[in-house]
Amino acid sequence: TRRVTVHDIAAAKARGEKWPMLTAYDAMTASVFDEAGIPVLLVGDSMGNCHLGYETTVPVTLDEIAMLSAAVVRGSKRALVVADLPFGTYQEGPVQALRSATRLIKEAGVGAVKLEGGERSLAQTELLVQSGIPVMSHLGLTPQSVNAMGYRVQGRSDEAAHRLLHDAKAAESAGAFAVVLELVPAEVAAEITRSLHIPTVGIGAGVSCDAQVLVYTDMVGLTGGKVPRFTKQYADMRRVLGDAAKEFAGEVVDGAFPAEEHTFH
Ligand code: KIV
Ligand code: NA
Repeated sequence: TRRVTVHDIAAAKARGEKWPMLTAYDAMTASVFDEAGIPVLLVGDSMGNCHLGYETTVPVTLDEIAMLSAAVVRGSKRALVVADLPFGTYQEGPVQALRSATRLIKEAGVGAVKLEGGERSLAQTELLVQSGIPVMSHLGLTPQSVNAMGYRVQGRSDEAAHRLLHDAKAAESAGAFAVVLELVPAEVAAEITRSLHIPTVGIGAGVSCDAQVLVYTDMVGLTGGKVPRFTKQYADMRRVLGDAAKEFAGEVVDGAFPAEEHTFH
């Protein structure tokens, strides 16, 4: 089996086919989603909140992304694996971005990288693409800027919507193969989707986007506490895991585990 490529992604938009993307941070989860037919796996810096126990994505390091990206690549056979460039590993400029992305391509074996920002990351996107590294762009709510922007819907005013469209076109002209739109009004995302030749990947951006992405821990109900309104919980893994742990604990305490079939003589 060969992996999904950015050419397959382009062909899907040409055919008007929608596709799903999920985050993954480890080999086992990656293999489950790969076998389920998810064509694109994102090793998102959401691993900060969802896997590593940080408050935000901001502290995530390139070492952390590289290690978990390698695991996701090892765990999958068919999916295109996209790794986030974490905060502070591309903002200095194109050369820093190329150095960071090259590590993820060579060490971790990912097929593409994602970075936040349209116009402001134009030079970075151009150099990566010219160097043969496919780039996914991320616009709208960009969590690496949480300290400046907070977590709120982006592009609500006409001016902000216009700026978003401009950023999306900038990313496309720099050679990005797809654009994530996070927490953007559905009408604005629909207009951007119509205006671009490359696919939009929505999260909290309405149903008109070419693709949809969810953070997998939200999608399977593993995230504790409050989750954003735009996520949908398709399973209750937190309960499944908790119940299994409680049952195991109970059987250890009352001596029901290990039973004869788990025992060697
Ligand atoms: O890090 C992440 O999971 C992301 C998606 C929400 C697009 O960037
Ligand atoms: Na991210």
